[in-house]
Amino acid sequence: MDWGMKNRMAKLIRPESARAVWLAMDHGYFLGPVSRLERPGETVRPLLPYADAIMLTRGVLRNCINAQNSPPIILRVSGGNSIVGEDLSREAITTSLKEAIRLNVSAVALSIYVGARYEHQTLLGLANLINEAQDFGIPVLAVTAVGKELGKRDARYLSLACRIAAELGAQMIKTYYCDDFEKVAGSCPVPLVIAGGPKLKTELDALELAYDALQKGAVGVDMGRNIWQSHNSLAMIQAIRHIVHQKASVEEARELFDSIKKK
Ligand code: R5P
Repeated sequence: MDWGMKNRMAKLIRPESARAVWLAMDHGYFLGPVSRLERPGETVRPLLPYADAIMLTRGVLRNCINAQNSPPIILRVSGGNSIVGEDLSREAITTSLKEAIRLNVSAVALSIYVGARYEHQTLLGLANLINEAQDFGIPVLAVTAVGKELGKRDARYLSLACRIAAELGAQMIKTYYCDDFEKVAGSCPVPLVIAGGPKLKTELDALELAYDALQKGAVGVDMGRNIWQSHNSLAMIQAIRHIVHQKASVEEARELFDSIKKK
């Protein structure tokens, strides 16, 4: 692996633990101002010291994140769809690599929609992005998106989508947790992180999700709503970090969560 690529990857997947805690805050690119992300800068500012990286669009990066005090950036470079549009899978590249380099990002990210109407367009988009990003030593994170079809998230489908992304050359993949997740991780030759998905009932549920994913082969999380939609987001991100980097049990993470919450 080239030095630049290796250096960027090491910022994202911490060499000390070979694991990663990323804070996803790119939701607005197709969902608009989701709850608690109406003012993204204010919501995430206290959480940034605990994130190994943040995932977001250039618009939110430029307007809401301090350039002098920022974690490494995973820049979402795909979009062109919306939650009220005709088909969420109709997504393409929106942000150039020149812009990504100008913003000094550590990785670029785009969604693929395997099995959807615009599957071909998104897979070629991934392949082309990898071809270009390789020249500059920038890793590509492929996101296995399912749009509104959340029921698609089973091991058979996610193994297919993750493996295709890896075969096309993605350096890292973001996917969902599911039953038999070890099958997804076990058939994917590059590091996998999991999204949190919609806010779960309790913080404990999200801690269990992160713990189970790591036990079954994920290298970390790229979590959004289950962190910043929590009323105790600061406690939540630290508890997740405890599981990911310190290999804490769910019980140990819950104790940390409770003690920070009390303060
Ligand atoms: C969705 O396409 C976005 O990429 C989000 O970053 C992703 O779903 C992770 O956020 P959450 O943990 O809220 O699901």
